[in-house]
Amino acid sequence: MRTEQVSDHITWVGAIDWNLRDFHGFETPRGTTYNAYLVQGEHTTALIDTVKTPFVPELLSRVASVVDPASIGLIVVNHVEPDHNMGLPDVMAACPNARVVASASGVRGVAEYHNGLVVEAVGAKDVIDLGGVSLRFLPMPMVHWPDSMFTYCAEERVLMCNDAFGQHLATADRFADEVGESLALDELGRYYANILMPVSAQVSKVVDKVDAAGWKPLTIAPSHGVMWRGDSVSRAIERYAHWSTGALRDEVVIVYSTMWGSTDALARAIGDGVASEGVGVVVHDLAVTPLAEVTYELLERRGLLVGSPTLHHGMLFRVAGLLQYLAALHPVGRTGAAFGSFGWSSGATDQIEARMADIGIEVAQPAYTQKFRPTEGELESAHEWGASFARSLGAPVTTD
Ligand code: FEO
Repeated sequence: MRTEQVSDHITWVGAIDWNLRDFHGFETPRGTTYNAYLVQGEHTTALIDTVKTPFVPELLSRVASVVDPASIGLIVVNHVEPDHNMGLPDVMAACPNARVVASASGVRGVAEYHNGLVVEAVGAKDVIDLGGVSLRFLPMPMVHWPDSMFTYCAEERVLMCNDAFGQHLATADRFADEVGESLALDELGRYYANILMPVSAQVSKVVDKVDAAGWKPLTIAPSHGVMWRGDSVSRAIERYAHWSTGALRDEVVIVYSTMWGSTDALARAIGDGVASEGVGVVVHDLAVTPLAEVTYELLERRGLLVGSPTLHHGMLFRVAGLLQYLAALHPVGRTGAAFGSFGWSSGATDQIEARMADIGIEVAQPAYTQKFRPTEGELESAHEWGASFARSLGAPVTTD
């Protein structure tokens, strides 16, 4: 199978998961890749990362087109999450002469996931010489698991950083400048919002840690999606630096579910009200917009208006699902409010407000509730409610 030269001694040998549409709840309409890299020295060859078990044959086919797997002397496990680690035993069986290394936490993770499998620990002081090229390691805990580790080839200035700088993007192209940098950056953001948002504090230190190690990568080679080279490297780093600060624009995401169209009508009127104040707004019905997309929309926006009609005294399940999803991602610095229609019993907006408070989203104004179908006058009230929320954005948050 086709491989890709990354640098003189490094070759991409990963697998392309064209059909992945769900990554533990993160909708992935563009699929993903599980990237792995061969680093060939004069004495031996290293394989950086493996893949999910169903993709091991694809990985090994690419490996075998470059080197005899039996000649591989080292396998590096940068991360023990199963999308990179599940296939490790099968790859080890095909590479019987390889020692296997991981971070100290990764050693424990490999043993726990693979029924006691023993591998060796490496850390920031270790250098493994492959002959003419060498590998260095930097544990990067909580970017995004405790075991996460970066591997660097100083001679070729290639940083193999696993999930960091990754994107869920299946493509025949291997570099951001080939697939189109704007698409790659878009997917970089979608990945950041849905995977890395809760560990932004750790992500904010990544560049400093890499600098402190004296690493000056010309190529960033993640384990999902395309690689970054040339000018794309600095642009990807700039995006990470920006997102990890938590900087937000005073704009609004409106997201809702609807039963008979009344909450949908409110969402539209509220959106129009927000826009009437010159504030940016996007509006999404959860019946048609994936959670991952809503989360990405929220990555750089401060305002979140959540709408649901009341069903059996509570919010609709898609709204509850969104709020549970957001709770795990710990969005910081957001303000919000709830809205929705009801027939014979209200209750949805109370639940939304309570859940927002649990998540740490400041509830900026009382909910807008509507019995049955809104009249023209009530839609005007909803419009004003949206405008009022827009005006409150950027105002000092009061606590009592
Ligand atoms: Fe791509 Fe955290 O696994």
